[in-house]
Amino acid sequence: MSNCAKTQKQQPHTLLDGGETSSEGVYRNQFLHDVWQGLSCADKYIHCKYLYDDHGSVLFDKISQLDEYYPTRTELEILATNASAMSHCVGQNAVIVELGSGSSHKTRLLLDHLLAPTAYLPVDISREHLLRTARLLAAEYPTLKVEPIVADFTSRFEIPSPYADQNIVVYFPGSTIGNLTIPEAMNLLHSVVNLEPAGIGLLIGIDLVKDKDVLERAYNDSEGISARFNLNLLTRANRELDANFDLRFFKHIAFYNEKHSRIEIYLESSRDQKVSVGSRCFDFRAGERIHTEYSHKYTLPQFSEMARTAGLETVEYWTDPQQYFAVMYLTAH
Ligand code: TRP
Repeated sequence: MSNCAKTQKQQPHTLLDGGETSSEGVYRNQFLHDVWQGLSCADKYIHCKYLYDDHGSVLFDKISQLDEYYPTRTELEILATNASAMSHCVGQNAVIVELGSGSSHKTRLLLDHLLAPTAYLPVDISREHLLRTARLLAAEYPTLKVEPIVADFTSRFEIPSPYADQNIVVYFPGSTIGNLTIPEAMNLLHSVVNLEPAGIGLLIGIDLVKDKDVLERAYNDSEGISARFNLNLLTRANRELDANFDLRFFKHIAFYNEKHSRIEIYLESSRDQKVSVGSRCFDFRAGERIHTEYSHKYTLPQFSEMARTAGLETVEYWTDPQQYFAVMYLTAH
């Protein structure tokens, strides 16, 4: 894949609100700009964060309940089995900052076991979904301060001042770090360390390297929900960017690239076609692909080493009996 534009600098973080944004909290013109840029490259791509509009988030929740999609179920199992040990690591009166919180299912399991947590700060790009989930959680945990932050967590963001000097633990479940390129993952680990409070903790879910068939089934489920989730990106572009992708002529592709230890996900054009996106037009050849997401799989030593380079030491980790998934607790050293 070409690095065209992938190496472009992230936009500075803005806490989004108000009228210039779409319902999902992303500037409309930013989405347009990014799609134009991605489709102008020799190796076309659209950034995976755009998969998660409101409908995408609902579809992803469905994926996470599929038998074939082992990560969510396995991570929940690990959390349920080891919640007390994890809460011991996290310590008392923690402020939990969750990155890419989605529906916060895993959070409930964690929160239920924590020792008097002070606050829960979910950070997510999907505004409506985030606010809805935050309202639900606030009602379920009346003693917890719940402060949603609508933001792209891959950009710089700050902890609101009342919490900045407290026992901050960043919670990053779902192996979402696997969806970042290795340099992006390094940046994220660095930015966790740079959130400052001495001894900041990171509780993170990591999908482990495993059998290729198991991996590929997880991303090509028999009900076709993975395909709908991926294709929803084009529906979103049609709606928000005045594009005219014909969904009959794009298909979902996902396979495991062993060399790079990652699932690669694309939308493939099934014929030569022209697609307009706003005022610009893009040509697709039959078989040409738009890259939409990577899902990197790590080994425990690999990830620990990467985190150490960023300044985070592995304190403890927990896995399932099949070693499909790991939850790790790290602290800045
Ligand atoms: N974050 C998910 C993962 O890496 C993304 C994902 C799961 C996905 N299934 C998909 C993306 C299907 C596109 C299509 O596991």
